[in-house]
Amino acid sequence: MIRTSPILMCPPRHFEVSYRINPWMNPDHGVVDRARALAQWQALRDLLARWTEIVELEPVPGFPDMVFTANAGLVLGRKAVVSRFYHEERKGESPFFQQFFESRDFEIQPLPDSIYFEGAGDALFDRGAPLLWAGSGWRTDRRGHAWLGRTLGCEVLGLELVDPRFYHLDTCFCPLNDGSLLYYPAAFSENSQRLIAERVSIGRRMVVDTNDALAFSCNAVNIDRAVVLHDASPGLREALERRGFSVHVCPLDEFLKAGGSAKCLTLKLDEELASSGGEG
Ligand code: ARG
Repeated sequence: MIRTSPILMCPPRHFEVSYRINPWMNPDHGVVDRARALAQWQALRDLLARWTEIVELEPVPGFPDMVFTANAGLVLGRKAVVSRFYHEERKGESPFFQQFFESRDFEIQPLPDSIYFEGAGDALFDRGAPLLWAGSGWRTDRRGHAWLGRTLGCEVLGLELVDPRFYHLDTCFCPLNDGSLLYYPAAFSENSQRLIAERVSIGRRMVVDTNDALAFSCNAVNIDRAVVLHDASPGLREALERRGFSVHVCPLDEFLKAGGSAKCLTLKLDEELASSGGEG
């Protein structure tokens, strides 16, 4: 059995859409059904708890997006980089996330001044090679990528996001445990698409179509052979199953109103680098 990592989640007791910082959010029309959001979140929590420990963070009133713990920061081993949010609306979450990492004895690595970084939402470890894929374009500052590489001691490959609907890397890109990759190419600049193709062999690349991408299928949580996501077309499900994954659909439409789904609602707490020449 592959090692599983405890996962940080934050219950949506104060979740709502009260501002607009991505195209999915519409405070006038996107009214959240809080009871439904709580039930969907609980279903995700219960599902993930089958495979791993869930650590819960106390939500804070006034920070509705705090449920998206992928944006708390990025951890590798005992190191944690706490996010510095781009938008005013989310900046106040950082001290609570910092407190959490301190309470778990992580070594906090302070970001250089004026660098925005939105944590595991924009930084995903490859599962087949010892490298970090880092997004930029909307939230995370490209100038921080080299610093991340030095601080975490790994190679960093920067990917430029060009479609505002896919404003965080984890909305359109998901490295899977067998070294394969689920992604939506059109969310990336041409150079970035080329870089992905150079670094991930064609047999390991699973391209999702626009419908699957808009259903947040790349925003998947992968634990061992389980892949948990909001929705998947029959074709995508089949492609994942062919690779030996079991697909678990878990409806999270209340969170889509804020531009997030399964992966955004989680943060793995004991990340490590893949060894070179891993599976795949
Ligand atoms: N409303 C949140 C935002 O725009 C959603 C964050 C989703 N998180 C993620 N890791 N993609 O910041």
